[in-house]
Amino acid sequence: MMWSLWRCSSMTGSSAFTNVRVFKCFRQFVKNYNISARMPEAIAFQGVSDHSGLHKFSVNESETFWGALASQRLSWISPFNTVQNCNFSQGKIKWFEGGKLNVSVNCLDRHVHTCPERVALIWERDEPGTEVKFTYRELLELTCRLGNLLKRLGVRRGDCVTLYMPSCPLAVASMLACARIGAVHNVVFAGFSAEALADRIRDTQSSTVITVNQGVRGGKVIDLKRTVDQAVQNCPSVQQVLVAMRTENSVAMTDRDVPLEEEMMKEDVVCEPVTMDSEDVLFLLYTSGSTGKPKGLVHTQAGYLLYAAVTHRYVFSYQDGDVFGCMADIGWITGHSYGVYGPLCNGGTTVLFESTPVYPDPGRYWETVQRLGISQFYGAPTAIRLLLKYGDEWVQKYDRSCLKTLGSVGEPINREAWEWYHRVVGGGRCPVIDTWWQTETGGICIAPRPSDPDAEIIPGMAMRPFYGIKPALLDAKVVAEPSGAGWGSGALCISMAWPGMARTIHNDHQRFIETYFQPYPGYFFTGDGAYCSKEGYYQIVGRLDDVINVSGHRLGTAELEDVVVCTIKCVYVFVVLKKGVEVQEDVLAQQLREMVSRNIAKYASPDYIQVVGRLPKTRSGKIMRRVLRKVVERKTDDLGDLSTLDDSEAVHEVIRGHQRLH
Ligand code: WT7
Repeated sequence: MMWSLWRCSSMTGSSAFTNVRVFKCFRQFVKNYNISARMPEAIAFQGVSDHSGLHKFSVNESETFWGALASQRLSWISPFNTVQNCNFSQGKIKWFEGGKLNVSVNCLDRHVHTCPERVALIWERDEPGTEVKFTYRELLELTCRLGNLLKRLGVRRGDCVTLYMPSCPLAVASMLACARIGAVHNVVFAGFSAEALADRIRDTQSSTVITVNQGVRGGKVIDLKRTVDQAVQNCPSVQQVLVAMRTENSVAMTDRDVPLEEEMMKEDVVCEPVTMDSEDVLFLLYTSGSTGKPKGLVHTQAGYLLYAAVTHRYVFSYQDGDVFGCMADIGWITGHSYGVYGPLCNGGTTVLFESTPVYPDPGRYWETVQRLGISQFYGAPTAIRLLLKYGDEWVQKYDRSCLKTLGSVGEPINREAWEWYHRVVGGGRCPVIDTWWQTETGGICIAPRPSDPDAEIIPGMAMRPFYGIKPALLDAKVVAEPSGAGWGSGALCISMAWPGMARTIHNDHQRFIETYFQPYPGYFFTGDGAYCSKEGYYQIVGRLDDVINVSGHRLGTAELEDVVVCTIKCVYVFVVLKKGVEVQEDVLAQQLREMVSRNIAKYASPDYIQVVGRLPKTRSGKIMRRVLRKVVERKTDDLGDLSTLDDSEAVHEVIRGHQRLH
């Protein structure tokens, strides 16, 4: 058994994976690639290097801008012949066509060539003080072994492999192994239920699933393999499940199951990378939409990787030697772009956080910052809000002088949380970078100051579009565009393509077009509302559609309702009981919570359930969720435009019910 893989490979230079053959493999690639793995310098074009000048250049001369970055920052097997070929009305997004490369070579081999013993990953395991480090050389070896194993098991170029694993080096190596052999990965957050996992496996027709026997989080053991067993019962496409051993507890294995470490160690540490086209699929990642079925967003090779790397480098001012601490799980896009692809493409050191912000106590984040020497801390407002309630002592106990930048992502960061993050966590020394983006955008699109240390930051504002991003706020007409075309609020759209954007929805290109390009022809529609100040600074207001944000994770109300409605008779989280049904409210609430945990995920389980007689609806019968939201937020004197409301008494009933309950 390969316990050592999980426990102790931090001894740089003397790892169990050392093998000279691996170096032969690099020499061969060095010949084929234009390898340069130094941390990229600041961007400058024609002498312009300040943010606003560069931003202007990047949108006015977009092809020059992205073309130069792509050739300088990525290692190509053969160069691309066009920079972009995009048409929003057809939903056609193509970047760097004709170019050939391998993403795993860009993330691993070229750094092994220049700095094999640099730490690539720090696996911050659940138990504090038990972190494991993997150098670039070790991570490449692991990736190659896994790549060879997947090939031996019949995984071919273009096949989809579903991962159901916590953040750990084997998960990263599995992602990169897919990239190496040309397979497509589909990481499913390991907190999702068997049903949600099965939906995603079926939609991708994966024949292979990779998981661990058990996960460990917040001191609790979670039977992930058992969830996979349940899920694959209803997934005829699955032929094999690779099972890694995260804990020492044995787990029932069937004929379908493959012991991952054991089989992997039989494989060679050299695995020839496949030559991929820029627009071949790299991965799918599902996210909730405003209808019930989650969308499998498709990201491709070169454009995605370039955008993740460039945003990682400049939004956070990541420098050589920095330790990048992204707290997000690899099951979310944040984990993909800033836990894995961005930092590794830049030859950086990245932290994989397995625990929770409050385990073993609310000082965990800051103790980890001190112990690992984290320079950029990237977290979610929901965690910051939680921690600030515990008081400043949990932060002040630890030395945070290594911190340079504090990032925030997932939802708007309210003023109080922003101030606390800045003043207490950062000691007033570190800029707080509120980053707005989405699974669809591939990387950060709006953030305060890409590498400009003097740029002003206003608390709670995401501020400035990243290079190559041209936002527009739309109403019936354009409300605001950068460069002084006005200010105000509207639907946040982006008016030109950028390399990191999703290419389609898996198996449903029509839905891709309808969701993102039809609401405002000529623009990519984000689903969010935003405000733009006179200075051209953006503030994100929140979703405009039937999607809610729970702890920084997107949840479609329709998806939730599908579960709730079809399992118990006729209920919503604002529950409307069918006529004649009588049920005790607390019993109902308990049942609903269990249903949602089982069918979607524990985190999606409702905190409050209110039974109402009816819901406020528009005349055309659409539930006015924004009004419900205001009621819950106690902003009933600011319900917004009610002119389309069918019957205003419905709102008053909901308000009265809410007041009674809380
Ligand atoms: C939605 C995307 C992309 C990382 C994690 C979530 C909301 C994201 C912010 C922010 C206000 C934000 C938006 C967006 N969101 N970042 N800095 N300020 N809202 O990815 O699951 O694809 O969700 O998260 O509503 O549309 P996601």
